Amino acid sequence: YEIMPSLVGSEMCIRDSDIVVNGLKRLEYRGYDSAGVIVEGGDNNFELKKTKGKVADLVSISKDLEGTAHVGMGHTRWATHGVPSDRNSHPHLSNNGKIAIIHNGIIENYDTIKTMLIEKGFTFASDTDTEVLVNLIQYVMDTQNVDFPTAVRYALNEVYGAYAITVMHKDHPGLLVVGRLGSPLAIGIGEDEYFVASDASPFVEFTKEAIYLEDGHMATISLEKGIEIRAIVDNSVVIPEVQELKLSLEQIEKGGYEHFMLKEIFEQPKSIHDTMRGRLLVDEGIIKMAGIWDYLDKFTKAERIIIVACGTSWHAGLIGEYLIEEFARIPVEVEYASEFRYRNPIITNKDIVIAISQSGETADTMAAIKLAKERGAFIFGICNVVDSSISRFSDAGAYTHAGPEIGVASTKAFTAQLTILSLLALKLGKHNGNLSNVDFMRLITELDAIPKKIEDVLASTHDYVKNMAKDFVSASNFLYLGRGYNFPAALEGALKLKEISYIHAEGYPAAEMKHGPIALIDENMPIVIIAPRKGHYDKIVSNVQEIKARKGKVISIVNKGDEQVSAMSDYVIEIPETSECFSPIVASIPLQILAYYIAVYRGVNVDQPRNLAKSVTVE
Ligand code: G6P
Repeated sequence: YEIMPSLVGSEMCIRDSDIVVNGLKRLEYRGYDSAGVIVEGGDNNFELKKTKGKVADLVSISKDLEGTAHVGMGHTRWATHGVPSDRNSHPHLSNNGKIAIIHNGIIENYDTIKTMLIEKGFTFASDTDTEVLVNLIQYVMDTQNVDFPTAVRYALNEVYGAYAITVMHKDHPGLLVVGRLGSPLAIGIGEDEYFVASDASPFVEFTKEAIYLEDGHMATISLEKGIEIRAIVDNSVVIPEVQELKLSLEQIEKGGYEHFMLKEIFEQPKSIHDTMRGRLLVDEGIIKMAGIWDYLDKFTKAERIIIVACGTSWHAGLIGEYLIEEFARIPVEVEYASEFRYRNPIITNKDIVIAISQSGETADTMAAIKLAKERGAFIFGICNVVDSSISRFSDAGAYTHAGPEIGVASTKAFTAQLTILSLLALKLGKHNGNLSNVDFMRLITELDAIPKKIEDVLASTHDYVKNMAKDFVSASNFLYLGRGYNFPAALEGALKLKEISYIHAEGYPAAEMKHGPIALIDENMPIVIIAPRKGHYDKIVSNVQEIKARKGKVISIVNKGDEQVSAMSDYVIEIPETSECFSPIVASIPLQILAYYIAVYRGVNVDQPRNLAKSVTVE
């Protein structure tokens, strides 16, 4: 899975300030184990630099790439085929050195094609599937007497898997050929320049107009002829839809924070408010959600809701299950998308499948909803990235409106997902009569107060948690416990810590602790326990006692004024009280801060943790 920005048009010199390299920095959050850049130099020559490592490493090796160019492309990689290394980095060249490619995705039948090409005398300098594709394009040009874009099209018709590609040819200066299947690709339209990238962030300061290429389409892009889009399968002409980008530069910069993750943690009062804006109308006593307006009866008649998601979004889904079952009384199942798609699940046209995805591009989630749609289910997407693949594939949906999330560890997208799921559950419960008017009013008033409570919890816990995090820099294990709504919050807290600090952490339902994890508890084991007053508090008190009897170190998250759990805790983090169903939103904040500072003190790259990527467009 790999990313690329590329550009046709404006003059650039190949240094730190370059459009392409700066664009790569913006996309680096999606993959960052190697990077490369190629430009059309003078005399139709390619100038190519690539290296294992981050974009910063690419900057230092491309200093000697001076001069100007009109077409260039770059790439930052998350390895799929072949270890991160200089030779596996993109761009890749064809054997005759004339064609250059960058690729995001996986060519699944690369092995068969590679064997065929080797028989024809081709050699390979890397272990990648991408190099196979670029040589297939050369082979088509060599043997079929077709022009460059047609050869790309023929080659794409021979491969299966997922791709977003950009291809350049030495004999066709000023031309980029791009194509997509499965992996996203956005084309920015500047005044006298064009941009191509996996998302719009690399070119947002140059243009607000973009075309999102659809699956199965390819485009030729040149200053002379503009953008021509065609279907890969039959070359039929496609009329593009130009969209106006809502993204602003400010949204994708750090704004004075040391890391995107910290910025995004602090943005949560606003992001949650933005998610509710125009939807939660407390004065009128209603929840307005355009995405479900036409489908309310469909939801009411649904025999079952299946939530599919991965990672943090899956944790949000678990809380969604509690919310929907409690308030709307519709049976809910929550599935890892990757398991769901491969286990021949029973799905009928009476099912509603909710896909939750920050990026809207996660390959497993996308495949799960494709399968569900084929079997007749109605698909409802909850995505953060506007116009992402999952949002477009869904029959209906609701955006989280948390704004771009760049830190690899999800924070504000998670709390925005919980906000949407809360709105959805309350709306459905009100509509199908399972939630009384009084309860509905009480809950929406409570939900409306959440952004302010998040502001309070950020202000009151940040310094304390930052300070206590120092005591856990050398911890090698952590346990996170919660009950009810806060069990998934415990899972999410543990995931945050392991993702960015590389400390092993497990989340568990507090009562399950005695069936296994209790064996791990000794005086060195920190145990984070989420214990708000509303929500099985007495049971949790007993669990804490069991931990203390084994000398575990208790970090408790409790409501202000708490006495029992606090008295037994080594560290006490106080959060404001709210309804049990919204408490994971509030409790997640100090857990995010704790994971963040432990990782910072351990000196690791918080925004780009090793081996991870923000948007996983391969299965
Ligand atoms: C990756 C990210 C996680 C994210 C998961 C699902 O693993 O690192 O932060 O939760 O993918 O992503 P999605 O975009 O579908 O929510």
